[in-house]
Amino acid sequence: MNSLWNDAEAAACADALNLRVYSSRLLGCESSLVLHGGGNTSVKSTVTDVFGDAVETLFVKGSGWDLATIEAAGFAPVRMDALLRLAQLDVLSDSDMVCAQRMAMLDPAAPNPSVEAILHALIPFRFVDHTHADAVVTVTNTPDGEARIAELYGEEVLVIPYVMPGFDLARAVREATRDVDWQKLKGMVLMHHGVFTFADDARESYETMIELVSAAENYLATHARTVVVSGKQDDASRIDMKLIELARLRRAVSDVRGVPVLAMPDGCAEALHFAADASAINAVGRGTLTPDHVIRTKPWPLFVGEDVAATVDEFSKKYCAYFNRHADASLTCLDTAPRWAVWPGNGCVSFGRSVKEVLIVADIAAHARPAMLRAEVMGGWSPVCEADLFAVEYWELEQAKLGQSGKAGNVPVHQGKVALVTGAASGIGKACVDVLLEQGACVAALDINPEVAEVFTSSAVLALVCDVTDDAALQAAVAATVGHFGGLDILVSNAGIFPASRRIEDMDADDWQKSLALNLTSHQQLLQYCAPYLTLGIDAAVVIVASKNVPAPGPGAAAYSVAKAGLTQLGRVAALEMAEQGIRVNMLHPNAVFDTAIWNEAILAARAAHYNLSIEAYKTNNLLSVEVTSRQVAELTVAMAGPLFACTTGAQLPVDGGNERVI
Ligand code: NAI
Repeated sequence: MNSLWNDAEAAACADALNLRVYSSRLLGCESSLVLHGGGNTSVKSTVTDVFGDAVETLFVKGSGWDLATIEAAGFAPVRMDALLRLAQLDVLSDSDMVCAQRMAMLDPAAPNPSVEAILHALIPFRFVDHTHADAVVTVTNTPDGEARIAELYGEEVLVIPYVMPGFDLARAVREATRDVDWQKLKGMVLMHHGVFTFADDARESYETMIELVSAAENYLATHARTVVVSGKQDDASRIDMKLIELARLRRAVSDVRGVPVLAMPDGCAEALHFAADASAINAVGRGTLTPDHVIRTKPWPLFVGEDVAATVDEFSKKYCAYFNRHADASLTCLDTAPRWAVWPGNGCVSFGRSVKEVLIVADIAAHARPAMLRAEVMGGWSPVCEADLFAVEYWELEQAKLGQSGKAGNVPVHQGKVALVTGAASGIGKACVDVLLEQGACVAALDINPEVAEVFTSSAVLALVCDVTDDAALQAAVAATVGHFGGLDILVSNAGIFPASRRIEDMDADDWQKSLALNLTSHQQLLQYCAPYLTLGIDAAVVIVASKNVPAPGPGAAAYSVAKAGLTQLGRVAALEMAEQGIRVNMLHPNAVFDTAIWNEAILAARAAHYNLSIEAYKTNNLLSVEVTSRQVAELTVAMAGPLFACTTGAQLPVDGGNERVI
């Protein structure tokens, strides 16, 4: 590992706190040092308060901030005298510690100080850096880890046996350092947890961290020369999975968790190699890389066997037994669903309510796997014991953090669901993707127009360039959707064209065929390819975008109206056939939605002139005199896929401002 220190950048920092921000970010940008909120840093400084008094202050990373992106506002200013007094107590509950630390802050609007603030205060140097470096923790997670750390660092590094983070850890460090000469120490290793470095100079503290971690990396390179295949996401290998089994897995995990989750596979070479290694599978059942990972990943992954649903059930029972082994009467069992899976032959799968949650789990798993393989070579993967893992998973402070992010009332209606929308680059389809995203779903956005890849920036969108009339491309797009998100719950069958107006006697055979191919046949094929996955979906629903032309056709629109009428009949039959699987199929009949590419200035002017109306009057030429927008059509579409329409199937709903011929 190399130092990223840059003298010019450091010199541009106005004060000690800004320098602290700078070197914290250097640590944060290296994922093998800290992952997703892991690790923390501090700087000690003097602040003048409103009375003009100089107050010795610890600026320590605030809870909820990430070192990679931290700003000055992410550091909580806490009075050193209060922290050092707290450090002298023999007993303090972690809730009382959090409360006392908050009361000792100089800024009531600052975030909660890290639970390791007291420990930072005890270290008599200005800059303190703490990471959960993979390499150091890997060495500590071996049967003779303490001896190995001693061999690696000698007397320059103090070793603290595992103690749960919080006040107990601060007290253990206080006791262990009573007679220590800090000047002789370069750092401190907390077994199964991480490493601290410190100095009065920001660069020295940071570069000592790099030095200690590099030494651990070199140690692993010589003592654990094992085949750790490097891994990059490989889309092709993802799609090779047995997709129907993946959808079954996602459904089973969602059922156990009680809410829809995504199931995103990782079929890269490293994950495949890990999943095929019996010793790795044995190791991963013993616990996590650092105890805090248990909050995100549970103590162990799911091992997927032949009967996918049965293995999820077994996991749930195993988790209940683990809870019962360690819980006292005050605790309530968390959900019993796995957060990631090891699947021989397929690699690994991560589960989560959102892409963000899935990627965090996947990252943690990707860092844990090589660590486990290396520790296996050094005598066997030996993380903290199960009781210690449980203590962290059910630690009141960690539970509080999770609670903040997932308050029941705030969860969007389609959170964790997977939708597929065709014709997604423009008009009604694009608006449907936007509304689905707002309501928590992930969306496969299909369009023949390659611009679909640029329209959406969210990681919850999988943009797929696909001509839905191309059978093979359509099948591949459905497979890519399931291969990416793990299943399918909502289908918005929307892509369509409005052919040039022609009377029947003047019909162009090609126009007729094209309209039938896109406006009718492609929808049947899409339904066919999606049906097996929708059957395994959660509250699965199909919404077909038809047209007002079905109940109220117009002259010159035979190719369009006939195809859309056939499409509506297809939807009605689908509602009959798919009800048994719990899949609802409903149809929408929009009319005159002008903010779409079907309409342009010339067509609008021609149609308005045809009715002898101004363009404005033509746009609101309906019973309610309203202009129907693609956003309104999309909101109705997405509502029809949701719980409001739980008891409705086979329905046809106009969204046209009211039309005498339709009513
Ligand atoms: P739009 O033209 O803005 O969007 C249609 C999208 O479908 C475009 O992005 C286009 O690239 C895509 N598309 C066309 N052929 C495709 C193919 N072979 N494969 C994949 N994608 C393809 O039009 P709008 O209005 O949003 O149309 C959506 C649906 O709404 C259509 O089925 C249309 O018939 C229907 N509709 C529209 C009305 C309106 O007034 N805009 C009224 C009644 C129904």
